[in-house]
Amino acid sequence: MPKLNRDARHPITLTVDGRSVTGYAEPRMLLSDFLRQEAGVRAVHVGCEHGVCGDCTIRLDGKAVRSCLTLAMQADGRIVDTAEGLAEPGELNDLQRAFRRHHGLQCGYCTPGILMSASDYLERTPQPDEEDVRDMLSGHLCRCTGYAGMVDAILDVADERARPDETG
Ligand code: FES
Ligand code: FES
Repeated sequence: MPKLNRDARHPITLTVDGRSVTGYAEPRMLLSDFLRQEAGVRAVHVGCEHGVCGDCTIRLDGKAVRSCLTLAMQADGRIVDTAEGLAEPGELNDLQRAFRRHHGLQCGYCTPGILMSASDYLERTPQPDEEDVRDMLSGHLCRCTGYAGMVDAILDVADERARPDETG
C-alpha cells in the first residue's frame, strides 16, 4: 500500500499587486483562499464560492476571473491584480473615485470584485453604452445598491478617459 503523503502542499510564487508572493497551496486550494490566507489580500471577498456572485473577482494576467473557480496552483508564476493594487495606499484611482462620487457602493462587500471586472472591461470596451455596462454587471450580485450608481460611475469614467488630456 503506497505511503500516504500527509503534507501535499507545494510552494507557489505569484506576483500579487506588483509584489512577489510565495506561499503554500494544496492541490485543491482555491486561488481566493490562497490570496486571503497566504498573500493576506483582504480585498478578495468570498461569497458563494461557486462562481455566481462575483465577489472574488480578480485579474489574472489582466483578465477578470473568479478566484473561487481557479486553483491556486493554476496561478503559479502568473500576475494577479486585486482591488488593493488599483491605487497607491491611501489613494483612489479614477474608477474608485467615480464609485464614491456616484454612490456606487453601500456595504462595499461586492465592490472589490466589481472594480476588477470593470477595470478589465473598460480596457476592452472603452466606450460602452448603458446596456453594455448593465450586461457586464449582470455577472455580479449586489444586495444593496440597485446598480444605478455603478452604471453611472463606469460610464463617467469611460467619458473621462475618452476626453483628450487638457493638462498637457
Ligand atoms: Fe466567487 Fe461568488 S465567491 S463567484
Ligand atoms: Fe453591499 Fe453591493 S454594496 S453588496
